[in-house]
Amino acid sequence: MMFVRRMYFVNCLLPFVFIGFLISGVFWSSAAERDPLQPRVPLTLLDEVKTITNPIHSTQENIQRGKELFEGIAICSQCHGVGGKGDGAVAVNRGLDPSPRDFTNVEFHKARTDGELFWVINNGSPGTAMPKMTGPGMINEEQAWYVITYIRTFPQREGETMP
Ligand code: HEC
Repeated sequence: MMFVRRMYFVNCLLPFVFIGFLISGVFWSSAAERDPLQPRVPLTLLDEVKTITNPIHSTQENIQRGKELFEGIAICSQCHGVGGKGDGAVAVNRGLDPSPRDFTNVEFHKARTDGELFWVINNGSPGTAMPKMTGPGMINEEQAWYVITYIRTFPQREGETMP
């Protein structure tokens, strides 16, 4: 008799366990990055944008300044993560889909010129959570170049060799 009652109890709980799995699946499934090798700059502008070069030299001092901006007033790390993997608090909490770019991916860096990164920071990536980040109350274009100088160093931090 005891046994039957206990089984009944377990059976009643099962649907809740199942629902629990479903809910945790919704919250834990991380959104995927949209193909990081496809250009984000509109094709009509791409050739011109690709030729824009970064006026900031990649010195330790400039990289450090870019890091301070990335993690500070430029708020990039809130989405892209302090480690640059695209797992910042805002991205995780809001379940951003597509997810922010993983800057540790060396293939992504090979596929993009500095000009293309600069264009996305100035214009955002349409149809995604990547906003325009330059302008009043945000960083200016010079600061964007410092941030790009820093972004380029993420793969080295992971032990990758940059081109
Ligand atoms: C609100 C969240 C958010 C913030 C804040 C944010 N990003 Fe992004 N970023 C994204 C998302 C999402 C993507 C992926 C867009 C896509 O797949 O097209 C992205 C993509 C990018 C890319 C890749 C563009 C490409 O060509 O593929 C660059 C570069 C970038 N962000 C730089 C920055 C910088 C620099 C900052 C800070 C100044 C910043 N982001 C702040 C969400 C954010």
